[in-house]
Amino acid sequence: MLKGKKILLGITGSIAAYKSAVLLRLLIKAGAEVKVIMTPSAHQFIAPLTLSTLSKNEVLSELVDNDSWANHVMLGRWADVMLIAPLSCNSLSKMAQGTCDNLLTAVYLSATCPVVVAPAMDEDMWLHNSTKENIKKIVSYGNAIIPVETGELASGLYGPGRMAEPENIVTWLNEFFEEKKQLTGKKILITAGPTHEAIDPVRFIGNHSSGKMGIALAEECIKRGATVTLVAGPVAEAIPAELNLIKVTSAAEMYDACVREFTNTDIAILSAAVADYTITDPSSSKIKKQENELVLSLEKTKDILKELGTQKKSTQFLVGFALETDNETENALKKLTAKNADMIVLNSLKDAGAGFGSATNKITIFDKMGNQTAFDVKSKKLVAADIINYVVKLSHV
Ligand code: CTP
Repeated sequence: MLKGKKILLGITGSIAAYKSAVLLRLLIKAGAEVKVIMTPSAHQFIAPLTLSTLSKNEVLSELVDNDSWANHVMLGRWADVMLIAPLSCNSLSKMAQGTCDNLLTAVYLSATCPVVVAPAMDEDMWLHNSTKENIKKIVSYGNAIIPVETGELASGLYGPGRMAEPENIVTWLNEFFEEKKQLTGKKILITAGPTHEAIDPVRFIGNHSSGKMGIALAEECIKRGATVTLVAGPVAEAIPAELNLIKVTSAAEMYDACVREFTNTDIAILSAAVADYTITDPSSSKIKKQENELVLSLEKTKDILKELGTQKKSTQFLVGFALETDNETENALKKLTAKNADMIVLNSLKDAGAGFGSATNKITIFDKMGNQTAFDVKSKKLVAADIINYVVKLSHV
């Protein structure tokens, strides 16, 4: 899996940097091409000569070297992945703040490739609230964390904070690259955003959905090789060009588009916040202000998830969402059976970091086998990866 992969290995000032030589050796043995960037303080922990010999590439550390400028933008574009291992507490803080004071932070800030970090620090630093906040921040920026391990630390203490062992980092990267190909040849239908139900030509009933979750799901599926059709309600978010976009406004339009597309779909993920009611008789001209109250008559919209659940063949896989404020589990389970979905992704608006508009989400997945899995608060990008991992596992695609 790592054969031919271009890996930018960032090394920061941590005692765990001595393990970087073993990590580098394993990556090279697995067939990867590796370029090493060190922060100035990493030099105190491991010699660049060791790393340049193992990588067969010059080790880079300065933004300007012998009056020539190291092209940090091109480095971030060259790599398939930037792996920062070890990531010290100080460099983590810089990543969280967007500080750009050395070549490694400059490359990180301009990297267009995925960035994966393996933190390493002493237990007390790892457990400090500011470290927790910084980790949360860099996760919300879309970076992935290779979990720290528990064991003997440089301080002599025993606890969490050790950098993952080089073998485990290589396994993590292998899995990461495998995911990229999982959905090749699969056709995936995703709904995203709100719907707008017209009251008259200038007014509508809508909701606060931003479409971020659905778009993150679409991006994740594209990354793994799928062909994606996105049926999006009115959203302001940027939509990737590599998908078939069907723009709709109302629940009725979203219903028609989904029913039409579903016959040619392997996996459908309905994350849109579809209006449950629409105006019975929208006015074709602007409604003028009334003397007293104005009464609007509403009628139910068609339930897209329920309809696709009815049409679903055994080769198709259907995912619904449930946004709840009360009796979350009970309501999610009801939706799972009532709509014949294979799984339901629950967001509770009671959870901090979940819901409309935010960059993060917190989900619990319920599947038709009766399993229930709760996930931590993560960036919507990483939540999308969790959802797709689950779909891949359950749908046996
Ligand atoms: N959904 C749909 N069509 C609708 C309404 C909802 O496809 N007309 C889908 C949503 O995209 C989501 C799931 O059904 O995947 C659950 O949506 P939610 O709004 O949480 O539930 P409702 O079924 O609308 O029930 P309630 O509003 O009472 O919670």
